[in-house]
Amino acid sequence: MNIAIVTGASSGLGSEFVRQLEKERKLDEIWVIARRKERLKALQEQVQTRLRILPLDLTKPEAIGELEELLHRKKPRVRVLINAAGFGRIGSWREISREDCVGMIDLNCRAAVDVTQTVLPFMRRGGRILQICSTAAFQPFPYLGIYAATKAFLYRYSRALRVELYSTGIHVTAVCPYWIKDTEFIAGARKSKNSSYIRSFPFASRQKNVVRRALLDAKLNLAVSTPGVVCSIHRLFAKIMPAGVMMGVWELLRRLP
Ligand SMILES: NC(=O)c1ccc[n+]([C@@H]2O[C@H](COP(=O)([O-])OP(=O)(O)OC[C@H]3O[C@@H](n4cnc5c(N)ncnc54)[C@H](OP(=O)(O)O)[C@@H]3O)[C@@H](O)[C@H]2O)c1
Repeated sequence: MNIAIVTGASSGLGSEFVRQLEKERKLDEIWVIARRKERLKALQEQVQTRLRILPLDLTKPEAIGELEELLHRKKPRVRVLINAAGFGRIGSWREISREDCVGMIDLNCRAAVDVTQTVLPFMRRGGRILQICSTAAFQPFPYLGIYAATKAFLYRYSRALRVELYSTGIHVTAVCPYWIKDTEFIAGARKSKNSSYIRSFPFASRQKNVVRRALLDAKLNLAVSTPGVVCSIHRLFAKIMPAGVMMGVWELLRRLP
């Protein structure tokens, strides 16, 4: 049985990945993971490929155990793994709760690694892993500091894993989008005691375009996908400018009305 596994499939990029993966004729099932079961069930009405609904909270280690048990029972061939589950919070260190600080690290880093390690034994040559990082991975971002650091972790892990997997023919792409306006992410990121540090989200992209480009880049076996003009330019500048200068530019940009 050929399958894809998509985490964070109950909204935003994850659900859009499921809709666009549908065009891949080789898939017998798509396994969709998130906490909101009803949302995952509703997604089935939008796609013809059979969805296996896995309502799991990935911050709970036993959730990965359930996924592992299912993989061993069904023995599928995982053609595509997309780690899209993630969240961020805007605020200074005082204004983001301890629970959220640790939660970001837990979901964006620990769970992404744990899911990848668990799924990899079920992947073969030609398999694709898309790790949904962020353009925030390319430099430190004050007032989005922990989130950006989690994405830097995921980015580095993805790049290294790609090299380790080179001889197996399994491809890893780190997807690094800029702000996206039509997902639940920005509203969620504002759920701290004070999120006024980032006033606007200019030139934000749309999930459809980000997902289309990310899937294409993964098919082309790119190590990094920057799906949009802003993140492509950002990646280049973050490579050539010192981090202190980039943070100075950010101090100006985040104040734009
Ligand atoms: N939107 C942006 O501006 C932007 C930019 C760059 C990168 N990204 C990254 O893109 C990825 C997708 O974000 P999005 O924009 O699509 O945001 P979103 O609409 O908020 O989607 C986040 C997904 O993660 C799932 N999730 C959250 N906590 C979870 C948990 N504990 N266990 C399992 N699933 C969980 C959510 O489902 P449930 O709530 O049902 O669990 C939801 O399906 C994230 O990794 C984000 O960091 C987003």
